[in-house]
Amino acid sequence: QAGELGQQTGHAVYVVGGFVRDLLLKHPNFDVDLVVEGDGVAYAAELARIYGGRYKSHPKFKTAVVILPDGQRVDVATARLEYYEYPAALPTVELSSIKMDLYRRDFTVNALALHLSPERFGDLVDFFGAQRDIKDRVLRVLHSLSFVEDPTRIVRAIRFSERFGFRIGGQTDRLIKNAVRHSFFHKLSGSRVMHELRLIFEEKTPLSCLRRMQDYKLLAAIHPLLALTPSKEAVLLEVENVINWYRLLYIEPQPQVWMLYFLGLCTGLDPEQFAIIARRLNFSKRQAAEMVALRQQIRDTAQGIFNWEYHKGPPSELYFLLEPMPLEGALYLMARNPREPLQKYVSLHLTTLRHKRVEVTGNDLKALGVEAGPRYADILRRVVGAAIDGLAVCRAEQLE
Ligand code: CTP
Repeated sequence: QAGELGQQTGHAVYVVGGFVRDLLLKHPNFDVDLVVEGDGVAYAAELARIYGGRYKSHPKFKTAVVILPDGQRVDVATARLEYYEYPAALPTVELSSIKMDLYRRDFTVNALALHLSPERFGDLVDFFGAQRDIKDRVLRVLHSLSFVEDPTRIVRAIRFSERFGFRIGGQTDRLIKNAVRHSFFHKLSGSRVMHELRLIFEEKTPLSCLRRMQDYKLLAAIHPLLALTPSKEAVLLEVENVINWYRLLYIEPQPQVWMLYFLGLCTGLDPEQFAIIARRLNFSKRQAAEMVALRQQIRDTAQGIFNWEYHKGPPSELYFLLEPMPLEGALYLMARNPREPLQKYVSLHLTTLRHKRVEVTGNDLKALGVEAGPRYADILRRVVGAAIDGLAVCRAEQLE
């Protein structure tokens, strides 16, 4: 229907990019990107109207996003010839607008399109040998200025090659090394670098991506303090283990994994060094303060747990030490202390203690005639503590 709509308005419509790549690779992908050879915004408005969805346009870029009634997003872009200005070094060739649109993209495998127009529905449009590259499992840029245009593509190259198990093509590899040698990364804003790092941290195998970045000296190119060291690698490996362990528990909510990897990458940095990284990555004052506070809370909680173990405190004390800690902090604490009893205590908290519920509420206290006020919180806290200490396991040494 999307294609028919294009036909009615006299425009060819294509689905492009990651969706087509993943279709050929048999990877699930629900992000639909459409390119219209015509007025993409008008097309999006019509699409939204027919399906009873909403749309939001960015007239400046001639793009729009349609949100269908089931929540599915469809991005719509306009392919126009005059839109693109190319560096003089590139050969000027007369290209159709879809070809020009695809040529602007990062890698051959991302420069595929599928016709949606009824008369050519399902025809694959492959101008740059993407099918051959998919068959050969190789990631290649479309032209030699790709990384000059956008250095974040270097990180994308590593991300995609690790995700799909593709090697990076010879010429592309040389272009990456050249880009690093010429410090392309210095010009990149902190927010863009952080965005790419977050995407890496959200991949299935962030550590192998980080190792590849290290091989290309990319982490140090972002900032020398971010370079991998053996101790960072050891912590990041444990971060991976802890995340996998937690996932298998199927407990909601799931942690923001990027935060754990980011903490791991900043292992060993003192507060001043951490502030330098936060500035380089363009953290807002608030974000930076929150991260600094979390790092401090992790250190303090670790110390608290060692003390608790030393004086053989009751489980409720462990609960109250860990309860204010965000999930990411608790998991990081486990990753940071893999061979210590501390790891076991934190896991006990996450799997058991923190789920303890008591039936007593403020209303019960009211019914008992306790005067409302700050005492309520204190009493309820003590009830929780008592309930926890009433568990079969009640002393530190019994947890072992
Ligand atoms: N793109 C690009 N250069 C970038 C970012 C994106 O050329 N720096 C292009 C790519 O061709 C990509 C498309 O824009 O196919 C959409 O970008 P994105 O949604 O990030 O790509 P996906 O391939 O869908 O990535 P993912 O599978 O991680 O969602």
